Amino acid sequence: MAPSTRSAFVAFASAAVVVAQQSTVTFPATPLNQLVFPHPTDAPYQIYGPNDPIQYVRGPQTGYNICNSTTEGQSSMCQTMYVNGLDDFCLWGPPAANSLIADTEGEEVAWCVKSGYGTRRIQDGLFKSVQLLKTSEYYMIVGTIDQTLINIQSTDSGGELDSGGQDERGNPIGGLVYSTIWETNNLPTQIEHWTEFIGNNQFCIKVCNPNGTNPDGYCQHTLDRIGLGYNCPSKYTVGGNVPANGDFEICDSDLMMVPGLYVQNGQTLSYSQPPESLGQITTIPYQPSLVSSSNCQTFSSAALFTGLASPTSGASSAAPTGASASGTHASASASASGSRTGSAQGSSATGVG
Ligand SMILES: *[C@@H]1O[C@H](CO)[C@@H](O)[C@H](O)[C@H]1NC(C)=O
Ligand SMILES: *[C@@H]1O[C@H](CO)[C@@H](O)[C@H](O)[C@H]1NC(C)=O
Repeated sequence: MAPSTRSAFVAFASAAVVVAQQSTVTFPATPLNQLVFPHPTDAPYQIYGPNDPIQYVRGPQTGYNICNSTTEGQSSMCQTMYVNGLDDFCLWGPPAANSLIADTEGEEVAWCVKSGYGTRRIQDGLFKSVQLLKTSEYYMIVGTIDQTLINIQSTDSGGELDSGGQDERGNPIGGLVYSTIWETNNLPTQIEHWTEFIGNNQFCIKVCNPNGTNPDGYCQHTLDRIGLGYNCPSKYTVGGNVPANGDFEICDSDLMMVPGLYVQNGQTLSYSQPPESLGQITTIPYQPSLVSSSNCQTFSSAALFTGLASPTSGASSAAPTGASASGTHASASASASGSRTGSAQGSSATGVG
């Protein structure tokens, strides 16, 4: 009796000390998209660790930002990723099979086309068709996929992941993106403003040039509920022009309008997403428009994606929490038409982002 009473007291006392040293807040002093880690090796192990003096309402980071050969593999929890080109990019996806984006937005991990980043590798069969649109302000990769191969339930309409997030710590929390696109020395450099939409068997990942004219505008993160079509207009999402499977291309592109801006009667107007408390979005005052592209080069997926993981090996180990990877391939129909409101309707992936 005495010993157990005593150890209970000791445990209580030490817990009380931890509570006294940590304070819990909603927002960080500096938003994630203003933290500077110029190159991947400048990042800490975690940006929001569980033992930091300041804790947040949404909890600590679930993965980490130091990723290397030790962390490489299909159970990696790496939350640093890269977008360099159509043959070398990553997507955020859930760590455990059969997940909903809305449930896991804070915890997504990096899945990459290439090995060597200390991440999971995208599984063979994920991509049905993919287009890279290159501009001086942003690179945008849009495609149709079998989303079950990146741990998303076949019927999930998905949502938005970005460096904003409802508490300014990103979705995933602490996620970092690097790119060599605008670097002449080929050294991966931090991209502070990026956005990904994934769901309805479609995805878009957009990285904005840190030295461009409006990176936070082109990589807008406050329009999550109106979806991929509005945030990433492309031939996949505007006008119902869904390419056949096996269409892989890289094009130069004109600039899209900054998402949320539109022209009516010669005036440029701005749309803001209403708060969720007002219910479902039923009308949007404009349609997204397709921008012109040129110099398109087409590739075979075999030529682009030489290092994809085989689905069985990926699926069997992709669930660190012990959930089994069901991989319901039959139900994925790669339908990219969706509704006009795109992939994020209803999931409110980032709230006020
Ligand atoms: C590799 O990554 C792990 C996990 O983040 C880290 O603990 C380890 O120090 C890293 N190794 C090197 C050599 O950087
Ligand atoms: C942006 O410009 C700064 C200063 O000119 C330069 O050091 C940096 O490498 C540039 N970043 C990118 C991504 O081009």
